[in-house]
Amino acid sequence: MAIREILAIPHPILRQRARKVRRVDKRLLRLAHDMVETMREAGGVGLAANQVGELRRLVVIQIPEEEEARIYINPEILKRGGEREVEEGCLSHAGYRAMVNRSEWIRFGALDHTEKVVKMKAEDLLAQAMEHEIDHLNGILYLDHLVEHSKPYRVDENGEPLDQEHEAGEEGAAASSELLVPEDVPASLKIR
Ligand code: NI
Repeated sequence: MAIREILAIPHPILRQRARKVRRVDKRLLRLAHDMVETMREAGGVGLAANQVGELRRLVVIQIPEEEEARIYINPEILKRGGEREVEEGCLSHAGYRAMVNRSEWIRFGALDHTEKVVKMKAEDLLAQAMEHEIDHLNGILYLDHLVEHSKPYRVDENGEPLDQEHEAGEEGAAASSELLVPEDVPASLKIR
């Protein structure tokens, strides 16, 4: 297994649609295992093949309380319901988080690593991660789902917001909702 380079926004491959996997062979499984290792090393919950430069419909997900990573081939959302606002980040946009709109639950279908057809309902973090990763396969980013009037904000390595008052060490900083506006996010990503 090997750690792959994770492409960062605004790399053009992240805006391309991945192709359907026609054969689950050794090469594909090697890629899947590399992606699991890369995701774990980066401390992520999920990774899509586009993010390591492979336009194939393959995602891996590691829910923190689960021991094993999930590998899904040709995943698709069959149904979704409800709406919620959740905090989210992306390994292709390190150091940032944002509030985004997601479904409350989804039903998805995919092949697993043994080529078995999986169909299941998901909610909470798994639903959020599946929506995020399947979006990647379609060239869609979490920044396309920003809650109205919200912007991505910088976070430290523990995911804590780096707001100005916090940095200044003032009391009550935790209650501050002031967010830093990233300067290196292209305007087209902010408004899409
Ligand atoms: Ni992502």
